[in-house]
Amino acid sequence: MPIDRSASILFSPIKIGTLLVPNRFIRSATHEFMADEDGTVTPRLAALYRELAAGEIGLLISGHFYVLPEGKASPRQTGIFDDRFIAGLKTLPRAVHDFPTRIFAQLAHAGRQTKMNLIEGTPIAPSAVFEPTVKLMPREATAADIARIIDSFVEGARRAHEAGFDGVQLHAAHGYLLSAFLSPYTNRRTDEWGGSTEKRVRIVVEIIRTIRDRHHLFPIIVKLNSDDFLEGGLRPEESIEIARLLEAAGLDGIEVSGGTAEAGKGSMWAGLRAEADEGYFVPAAERIKAAVRIPVFGLGGNRTFDVLERFVRDGRVDLISLSRPLIREPHLVRQFRLGEIARSSCISCNKCFNPRGISCGDLKVQSRRI
Ligand SMILES: Cc1cc2nc3c(=O)[nH]c(=O)nc-3n(C[C@H](O)[C@H](O)[C@H](O)COP(=O)(O)O)c2cc1C
Repeated sequence: MPIDRSASILFSPIKIGTLLVPNRFIRSATHEFMADEDGTVTPRLAALYRELAAGEIGLLISGHFYVLPEGKASPRQTGIFDDRFIAGLKTLPRAVHDFPTRIFAQLAHAGRQTKMNLIEGTPIAPSAVFEPTVKLMPREATAADIARIIDSFVEGARRAHEAGFDGVQLHAAHGYLLSAFLSPYTNRRTDEWGGSTEKRVRIVVEIIRTIRDRHHLFPIIVKLNSDDFLEGGLRPEESIEIARLLEAAGLDGIEVSGGTAEAGKGSMWAGLRAEADEGYFVPAAERIKAAVRIPVFGLGGNRTFDVLERFVRDGRVDLISLSRPLIREPHLVRQFRLGEIARSSCISCNKCFNPRGISCGDLKVQSRRI
C-alpha cells in the first residue's frame, strides 16, 4: 500500500517574505534552452512550467533571464531586458497560477562567462581577469557600467512584477557577474565596489535596496555561491558574512550553491549514487542558516525523500531545491506525496543539458535499449 506523505514537514507551507509557498520543494533555476533566439518566451516553455506546477512543485524558479543583451550566457535563453518581452513573460505565471505553485524569475548577467558570438562587444567583469574556459579577457566595468547594471536588475524586477511573477531571484552564483563581484578572485577593484567584503557585496545590496524601495513587499531572494572552488576565491566562511549583509539589506531568502566554470567544478556534480552524496551544498547552507533568520534553501544532488525530510526536520535548511530530477520526473513532488516513489531515478549524468531543449538523456538511452 503506498503511504500518503501529505503530513510530512516537506508538505507544510512556508513564508518567503510576505509570500506563502504551499510546500518546501523548489524547482531550482534551470536554463531550458526553450526561448526564441531573440529571447522571447515560447509556448513550449509555458507548457513545461504548467507541467511542473501540475507536478506540485511549491516554488518554481525560472531559468536565468538575461537583464542586458551583453549579459546573455547561452543560446535560446529568455530575455527580460526590454518591455517587449513582458507579453510573453506573462504566459509563464498564467500557466503556473492555475495551481497553488508560486513562481520567481531568476535575473542574471553572465559577466565574463559568455561567448563572444553571443553578445556584441567585449564581456564585462568587475576586473580584467582572464577567463580560461572561454579564453577571453573581459573589460573592467566603469562606474557608469555599474550604475547601468544595477538599473538593469531593478528594471528586470519591474518587468517580472508587471508580468505577474511572485518574486525574483538574483543570480549571484556560479561565477556570473554578481557572483564575480562577490569573489575576491575576480573582483580586484580598489574603489567602492571592491576590496572589503562590504564593498564587494555592495552591488547586490544596492540592487536589493532599490527593488525594495520601488516595489515594497515584492519578494527578493538570492542564489549565492558558498564556495568558488578557486584559489583566492570566495570561501564558505565569507559567504556567511555576505548572507548577513544581504539579509540586512532586506533580502527574503537565500539559496546556497557553489562552483565556477573556471574551477572545473560547477554546481551540477556528476555520478551521485549514495544517500551520503545528497545535499552537497547543505553543510554550507546549514552554516548560513545559523547566521540569518530568513529561509535558507538546501541544494545539490537532492534525490531521496527520507534524506530530504531529515534535512528540514533537523533544522539544517528550510526548503529543498531540485533541478535535474525534475527534468527526468516533472511530477516528482506529487509522486513523493502520494508515496508512489521514495527516490528520484535521476543518475546525475548531466545529459539533460540539451541545446535543443532540456530533456533526460539517460531516459533516451534507456528507451533505445528496449
Ligand atoms: C540543464 C541545467 C540548466 C541549469 N541552469 C541554471 C540556471 O539557469 N540558473 C542557475 O542558477 N542554475 C542553473 N542550473 C543549476 C541548478 O539550478 C542546480 O543548482 C544544480 O543542477 C544542482 O542541483 P540538482 O542536483 O538538483 O540538479 C542548471 C542545471 C542544469 C542541469
